[in-house]
Amino acid sequence: MIPILMVASEAAPLAKVGGLADVVGALSAALQELGHEVAVVLPRYRGIPLDGAQRVYGNLEVWFGPACYRANVYLREDRSRYLLVDCPALYDRPGIYGPPGGDHPDNHVRFALLARAAIALARHVFRPRIIHCHDWQASLVPVYLRTILRYDPTFIATRTVLTIHNLGYQGIFPTSALAEIGLDPEAAVTAGMSFDGRINFLRGAICLSDRITVVSPTYAREIQTPELGFGLDQLLRERSDVLRGILNGADYSEWNPETDPYIAAHYSAEDLSGKAVCKQDLLAEFSLPQQSERPVIGMVSRLDWQKGFDLVREAAGELMAEDLALVVLGTGSPEYERFLRELAAAHPDRVGVRIGFDNRLAHKIEAGADIFLMPSRYEPCGLNQIYSLRYGTVPVVRATGGLEDTVDESTGFKFRDYNARAMMEALRAALAAWRDRPRWEALMRAGMKKDFSWRASAARYSELFRELAGY
Ligand code: ADP
Ligand code: GLC
Repeated sequence: MIPILMVASEAAPLAKVGGLADVVGALSAALQELGHEVAVVLPRYRGIPLDGAQRVYGNLEVWFGPACYRANVYLREDRSRYLLVDCPALYDRPGIYGPPGGDHPDNHVRFALLARAAIALARHVFRPRIIHCHDWQASLVPVYLRTILRYDPTFIATRTVLTIHNLGYQGIFPTSALAEIGLDPEAAVTAGMSFDGRINFLRGAICLSDRITVVSPTYAREIQTPELGFGLDQLLRERSDVLRGILNGADYSEWNPETDPYIAAHYSAEDLSGKAVCKQDLLAEFSLPQQSERPVIGMVSRLDWQKGFDLVREAAGELMAEDLALVVLGTGSPEYERFLRELAAAHPDRVGVRIGFDNRLAHKIEAGADIFLMPSRYEPCGLNQIYSLRYGTVPVVRATGGLEDTVDESTGFKFRDYNARAMMEALRAALAAWRDRPRWEALMRAGMKKDFSWRASAARYSELFRELAGY
């Protein structure tokens, strides 16, 4: 049993923007099931209820230069043990990272406080052997530990692990931000945070963490190349001895067509009949005509540059020339939101678009669509294609990152080059296969039988933690 303190900015079901939340929620629970003692430090954003929570740390004071922030920390037992940092001055506002499409201007302070609170909790409430930090928002934990706290005896045996879920987000701020997070310029240089005339939170954690993981083996290789290294590929090559890829798992207690409470009918690889009911329910949900002779393509995604919507836009004419229906759920960039709304307006009987965040509808799309499209420019792991496999919704994906590692020709369709022609070729192959029912059912069943449960992935993290803790 290793005491592990996780630090993250999202965790399902309490606070979710994307897959990070799914991973933190499920991995912490899976590690606990493996016998570790786990607590997760999370900001108490607006809307996270405290009923039943217990105050475990009162009047925590964090000084950043002359500024003092006060927080209380609450323990909430959900699937995991959460330590919620309640600092209304920084967290009691709409939006986890900012207003729609934007960032809060003081995010450097908000997530510096998260790190400092985590360190205070590690000292006073829960003494971990491993601190497991997720993404740039938790990246100041190793930075503070290895700079201003480097001689602190409390943390001599503490080891840090950084998991990068997406190298496209690094937490880059002007140098003037340093004073506001309690670091002097020399410390920032020592930490490797000073870069290109700015400071970079994630870079500091890459330099100072004892181990680094990313969320798929292919992504671990890709980020060491200039194409997908987002300016950090050289550093990552230098740290390749401590870097590894551990594929995310899927939480089948949430994502399973045999038990899913949000879908119109349950089904399994043995009895697929419920899926047809889910398809009609999905069409009704989007006010599209009831039909079974046309395949439905589903997408659920952040509407971000990463996710390949420019390919969909470029191929829109060709795509709609095929006999298919398309349903999309997403929120994010106004540019892609506009494009999708216009596409739906131009094809009201075949395209359904819902702009917003809606977990229930995400489940209905996974169950009701025939094909799931993920044409990502890059994809560290991707969870929706893994969920799609379980729902018998055959994925069509770009062969990058975790999409490459989770889909093969027995379960889906892949394209390599990032262009509209390659995407359409893969989609046409899928549409042709859909018309060949026995072949399609074989694809569906092969995907449904794949097992990406967290048990295996959590065991890999466990092995890493043991190795590091010397257990
Ligand atoms: P990323 O983390 O890059 O957004 P993933 O595929 O790893 O991509 O995870 C996305 C997660 O967020 C999935 O659980 C997906 O269902 C969910 N999701 C994304 N957009 C929405 C939305 N608009 N409404 C509901 N769920 C969404
Ligand atoms: C990120 C990535 C996604 C990954 C998720 C969880 O948001 O974009 O590919 O699945 O984190 O690790």
